[in-house]
Amino acid sequence: MAETRDFEKMERDGWSKPSIAKGYADGFEMATRLVARKLSDAVYAGPDKHVLDLCTGHGVVAEELVARGATVTGLDFSKAMISLARAAVPAAHFIHGDAMEMGFPDARFDAVTIGFGVPHFPNPDRGLKEAARVLKPGGIIAFSIWRGKGSDGSFGWLFDAIGRLADPSVTLPKGPDAHVLADIDIARPTVEKAGFVDVKVVEVASEVHVASPDALFDLFDAGAVRAASLLSRQPASKRDAIRDDLARRTQAEGTEGTLGFRVPTPSVVVTAVRG
Ligand SMILES: C[S@@+](CC[C@H](N)C(=O)[O-])C[C@H]1O[C@@H](n2cnc3c(N)ncnc32)[C@H](O)[C@@H]1O
Repeated sequence: MAETRDFEKMERDGWSKPSIAKGYADGFEMATRLVARKLSDAVYAGPDKHVLDLCTGHGVVAEELVARGATVTGLDFSKAMISLARAAVPAAHFIHGDAMEMGFPDARFDAVTIGFGVPHFPNPDRGLKEAARVLKPGGIIAFSIWRGKGSDGSFGWLFDAIGRLADPSVTLPKGPDAHVLADIDIARPTVEKAGFVDVKVVEVASEVHVASPDALFDLFDAGAVRAASLLSRQPASKRDAIRDDLARRTQAEGTEGTLGFRVPTPSVVVTAVRG
């Protein structure tokens, strides 16, 4: 479908930019490290496991899996991300490819991890089905999703600010909701339909770190794809208004420390077993 093709192109082009790859790796570091540990726990990563880390990005999950002794194959469609990952985690094997259609044989891996990758799939049903195909029966999948609209944290604040302050004529190519699988009532049937059983959702109190209240806007503007596409096309006055709004909330609701502010950015880890 043409609309989904545009979405897929926006995602692929966005993540392929070295500046976005680096912006995400640095900006979301604190949250992604914590979640990488949760994902590794969830798949019982250890020396006896060959784990496929999909949407591996800069290798934050791969690094945690390797630290636990697992054999790790990381896959991503962004060459910029793959080169960050190769530099950070020389012990893992990284492949440039599309999680929607992988070249691996059936039942190749003991476990699959996907750190904040499913929200970028043009077709999450298809991506999860493909993950199920390459997993051995009984193998575990664990993937993370940020909590979105209405959540008490940075993504919730961003959606709230965009809803009130953005130019509504600026729109994005149509794609799947990025946060909907954080809801167990939606995650369970979706993940089961892809070939899994025993679906669970666990909350993670993840946080991001920003040097100043103003910098929360920059984190989304320079280190994300969908948000950056929307923010970059706002008129300057609207960008300023959104920046100010996020700064106000960071000041009021973040936790100030010596190096800046910690901002709640809650997420969930969804786990399931290949049936
Ligand atoms: C938000 S980053 C997550 C990086 C890392 N896994 C983490 O936990 O922080 C999303 C990554 O998914 C990759 N990605 C998105 N869609 C993909 C697809 N269809 N196939 C392969 N990689 C994809 C992007 O290139 C990007 O590196």
